[in-house]
Amino acid sequence: FESFFKSSFPLLIAHRGFSAIAPENTISAFKYAIRSKADMIELDVRLTKDGTPVVIHDAKVDRTTNGTGKVKNFYLWLLRDLDAGSWFHPKYKGEKIPTLEEVLKFANGKIPINIEIKSSTEKDKLTERVLAVVFENGYDKKVLISSFDPRILKKIKKLTDELPTAFLYHYPVYFNPAKTLEKLGAIALIHNFKFTTPKLVKKIHDAGFKIIVYTVNKPDDIRKMIDIGVDGIITDNVRLARRILNEI
Ligand code: G3P
Ligand code: MG
Repeated sequence: FESFFKSSFPLLIAHRGFSAIAPENTISAFKYAIRSKADMIELDVRLTKDGTPVVIHDAKVDRTTNGTGKVKNFYLWLLRDLDAGSWFHPKYKGEKIPTLEEVLKFANGKIPINIEIKSSTEKDKLTERVLAVVFENGYDKKVLISSFDPRILKKIKKLTDELPTAFLYHYPVYFNPAKTLEKLGAIALIHNFKFTTPKLVKKIHDAGFKIIVYTVNKPDDIRKMIDIGVDGIITDNVRLARRILNEI
């Protein structure tokens, strides 16, 4: 894979797209992320009843669409009928839940994508389908796959050696991060910024791994994370983060 981490500045990663100004995980949010010169897009994937990876955060469609029920109980054609934009603002009415394939075709190699695989009882099938879509669309040199579920990361390493992975962790790190990343075959820890300390950053760097933090939206927090030397910042407002980075 290409190394994403080319400069000494942290990568600015658009959380669910530019989700501060457009409905999360929609083509509009990804379009504005690209226009705002994000370094990478983060998105979440789940599986439909008929086995298509679609881009949506929650297990249920309720919060981000006009429908109700679990994503896994929807056939794709029914899911595609839902309005995934109006809940955010009326001007986004008619926005759809995108398939992963649609997003990769839209992004068309212009920007690397961090695909977060959400855990569920369908995780094995979802993981296999995600890898298939990535390779079929020639996106294998431009993805970073992440998950909170170490079983998903292990499965990816069993299936392919070619895709970089990152381990997501929400709590203070009580384990040896380097050992854990090595065991999982991951290149990075993606950590809740609230628990990210200079000491942890050093530990990870000393062992040759990267550390990315989420979800950093307040200017002071963004400055602090730049200051302690993280390799990537996942934010809802990539334009704000860029402005802050440019001031430094
Ligand atoms: O990948 C970072 C972040 O997206 C993880 O949390 O809940 O926003 O998917 P969540
Ligand atoms: Mg996510």
